[in-house]
Amino acid sequence: MSSPLLAEATRIAREFDYPAAQVQRGVAEYIRQSNEGLAQENTTLSQIPTFVTAVPNGTEKGLYLAVDLGGTNFRVCSVQLHGDTTFSLTQSKIMIPRELMASGTSKDLFTFLARQIEAFLRIHHNEHFEAHKRRRREGKGEEELFDLGFTFSFPVRQNGINSGTLIRWTKGFNIPDAVGHDVCALLQSAIDDLDLPVRVAALVNDTVGTLMARSYTSPGETGTLLGAIFGTGTNGAYVEKIENISKLQHMKDAHFDTTTGEMIINAEWGSFDNQLSVLPNTVYDRDLDADSNNPGIQMFEKRVSGMFLGEILRRTLLALHKNPDVGIFKSASKASLSSDALLYRQWGLDTSLLSAVEADKSPDMIDIKTALKDHLNIENASNEDCEAVKILTHAIGKRAARLSAVAIAAVLIHTGKLQTDDIVDVGVDGSVVEFYPNFEDHLRTALREITEVGLAGEKKVRIGISKDGSGVGAALIALVASKDQTLRNPRE
Ligand code: GLC
Repeated sequence: MSSPLLAEATRIAREFDYPAAQVQRGVAEYIRQSNEGLAQENTTLSQIPTFVTAVPNGTEKGLYLAVDLGGTNFRVCSVQLHGDTTFSLTQSKIMIPRELMASGTSKDLFTFLARQIEAFLRIHHNEHFEAHKRRRREGKGEEELFDLGFTFSFPVRQNGINSGTLIRWTKGFNIPDAVGHDVCALLQSAIDDLDLPVRVAALVNDTVGTLMARSYTSPGETGTLLGAIFGTGTNGAYVEKIENISKLQHMKDAHFDTTTGEMIINAEWGSFDNQLSVLPNTVYDRDLDADSNNPGIQMFEKRVSGMFLGEILRRTLLALHKNPDVGIFKSASKASLSSDALLYRQWGLDTSLLSAVEADKSPDMIDIKTALKDHLNIENASNEDCEAVKILTHAIGKRAARLSAVAIAAVLIHTGKLQTDDIVDVGVDGSVVEFYPNFEDHLRTALREITEVGLAGEKKVRIGISKDGSGVGAALIALVASKDQTLRNPRE
């Protein structure tokens, strides 16, 4: 070293340092905000009661439908639970048209979803589907309905296991007329308009689904404490003692089973510390937020999750490119860096570029060059350009992993599980934790640096990917809900 480019890249990278003392402060503040969220409504950390009061043990059985709305794809699946910790899953995935995510009405969106459910039933369960249609036409007897778990991965104020009103959209969705409405009722009515044999039995956040699915499949007797997503967005759901959820006392209409003494809480940790009392805040974070469609909201998520890491990197690269004393991609063709180039476009850089850069071990960084060509249409990047990209990528990814440790550690400490249990099981899902190289290593290093966790505590933490968690988890919750008549119509 050090050319002006690498020196400047290193200087910017340092702004993303998130040292142990800050991690520790973050944990203390997370615990404070989580207690506040358990006591009151409208707090930065929502701590939403889900009315799911038990986690499965692997013996559950039956065929259920599940749908998942929450990222770029809509998934429909049917899940056969075999009752021996295993399951079979059939699924289809459809990309959601951008106009339905952000400019249409809720009717457009939910009709689209119901149509996908219909197509899925016709392909995979046509016999059942036709039999139902026949029975209806002939006006014969009781209908047989599929119970469906609806994984809806946005902040929702739940009123019961199968109803909840949307608090706000996140992750680039924006359909204002849905806010404040019961999303289960919206889906059910679109399903009924198409006359499908389907009952929306449960409303599930993806983190809750992940927690349930991990608990169903995880090895041994240990129940899972926390389900966490590090994907397009980030969030966690954990098992809380009902006596600690003091705001439940004000929810007079709520009906739920109290026998386990526990309830799953959807933390909505993407909005941890929206007031930025402890979160790191570089100029790139500030600009990203100011230009987003929800400024001041999901501030933790905007530093951690897949939807945003690419955009943070793009902004740092652009700063290097615009700096006349430094310059990056000087050897790239003029066309690839004209004023409408991807590098200049908001959301122009996908987070999977960071994974590719971080994974690179190729001679002459050829993989990084290919990735820059594929993602940003930049040809002829020099070795030095690639080195600068690497330095920044590493800093941004590492900060995200260390921030993730803050939320996980806070849940471990707050629930006291490290004191009482030998193994604490955590189920995770999402593209960042699955594909970002060394994400878990950085996260674990930070866990060890936290006084109340330390080396001994970190060793107790078992982290496992819960693949397809939201589908299986939704099926499991649909099962619980369909068995409990009082839950089906909480106000009856
Ligand atoms: C966003 C949503 C949250 C979801 C998470 C992961 O943070 O608000 O509900 O769990 O993304 O998909």
